[in-house]
Amino acid sequence: MSRRRSFAAGILVAAFSTGVAAADRAPEQIVAERCRNCHGPEGRSSNPDFPKLAGQNADYLTRQLANFKTGVRTSEPMQQEVARLTGGEMRALALYFSAKEIDPEPVADRAQAQIGKRLYFSGDPENSVAACITCHGPGGRGAIYLPRLAGQHAKYLVAQLHAFRNQSRVAPDMVMHTVIQNVTDAEIAAIAQFLSGMK
Ligand code: HEC
Ligand code: HEC
Repeated sequence: MSRRRSFAAGILVAAFSTGVAAADRAPEQIVAERCRNCHGPEGRSSNPDFPKLAGQNADYLTRQLANFKTGVRTSEPMQQEVARLTGGEMRALALYFSAKEIDPEPVADRAQAQIGKRLYFSGDPENSVAACITCHGPGGRGAIYLPRLAGQHAKYLVAQLHAFRNQSRVAPDMVMHTVIQNVTDAEIAAIAQFLSGMK
């Protein structure tokens, strides 16, 4: 009787320790093996095709990783990355990158950035374009599920704004799609230029 009971307990312990053996890897390990190849070891990617993750809001990062996993947001490389991650690892990676410092980019065209700045703070009421500041904040830092935009690569921002406008980037709330509908290509370039230099 007691032998059988300890056998059962042994199976329980074995099952439990298999669970522990398959536990979440540390974010530092995953970054070193995977993320750094595109986003850099501290989330300050040097290639502007890859977004900076440093200083980004942790809840926003967590939600985007989940969106890649469910296929709501599509990206071939990111789909492959998240397939290997557990929910706990995604949260730990979001916290890891969120805690890193982000540096702004040098502004190439000040006149263009000035146009972008006006749109960011005042929008374009005549063409029903809401001011970005309403949601992304006066410092471009966003909050919770609203992304930080300050210091991000201009090329990445342009690509995402086009993706919202042509609806190839999907989000559970379609708020950015409405916001960007009446913004021209030149205005998108100007806003991106302003934001990437924003401290
Ligand atoms: C092969 C290159 C590559 C690797 C490796 C990679 N990423 Fe990405 N990542 C991308 C690209 C490209 C995008 C932009 C996708 C798009 O166009 O929407 C992206 C976007 C993201 C975003 C969305 C950022 C935002 O501002 O919305 C997050 C979060 C992210 N990656 C996290 C990670 C994490 C965590 C890892 C490591 C597990 C990782 N990535 C590994 C290429 C990569
Ligand atoms: C009503 C609120 C709201 C307003 C106004 C708004 N945004 Fe957004 N924005 C959002 C939300 C919410 C998201 C996250 C969407 C998602 O989850 O994919 C977002 C995402 C973005 C992203 C993607 C960032 C990344 O890291 O991938 C960019 C770029 C962006 N907004 C730029 C702008 C610009 C430029 C304006 C002004 C023309 C603007 N937003 C106005 C709510 C807003």
